[in-house]
Amino acid sequence: MQDEIQVHDKIFVPYLTQEEIESAVKKVAEKINSDYANECPLFIAILNGSFMFAAELFKHIRLSSEICFIKLASYKGTTSSGHVITSIGLDTDVISKHVIILEDILDTGRTLSRFLPQIEHQQPKSLKIAALLHKPEATVHEVPLDYNCFKIPNKFVIGYGLDYNGLGRNIPSVYQLKED
Ligand code: XMP
Ligand code: MG
Repeated sequence: MQDEIQVHDKIFVPYLTQEEIESAVKKVAEKINSDYANECPLFIAILNGSFMFAAELFKHIRLSSEICFIKLASYKGTTSSGHVITSIGLDTDVISKHVIILEDILDTGRTLSRFLPQIEHQQPKSLKIAALLHKPEATVHEVPLDYNCFKIPNKFVIGYGLDYNGLGRNIPSVYQLKED
């Protein structure tokens, strides 16, 4: 793992190694394997950030299960509630399925708090959330996080699918923004 890396104009320092991440993701996968024994869950991975987490986790899932990848688009709605979130690519029926949402990072919780009611509206049998990273200090919207690999401080991170202005997703470990 390189000591420091530059992405665009910012310097990042190592935070989580690939080994730490892979072992934590495997543990979460094993917990899901035992929690959903004899069930056939549907994983819904939220792009772009979760693609690496989803791939790593899914390799360790021993259940008969489905996965789909969606994008969330946020736009200003005409209602008083302001921003509306729509999902693109949810081409699988959710009704009566055990759904597990896969997110790269739970930050303020705003995205998921808006998206979850839409999934609930489609009447899944159950709905749980798995996030690779969680910034508890930043979370202002209550989101029940059922599976989490790491709690991290409220600092910007990149790597393992996460980006800074489009770059850094291919780094196999997680780097944190360097303090000035
Ligand atoms: P909320 O605030 O809705 O945010 O929970 C979730 C989404 O925000 C992005 N995000 C980050 N992306 N480094 C990133 O590369 C970060 O430190 C970070 N914090 C939030 C991310 O897309 C996540 O899905
Ligand atoms: Mg994301």
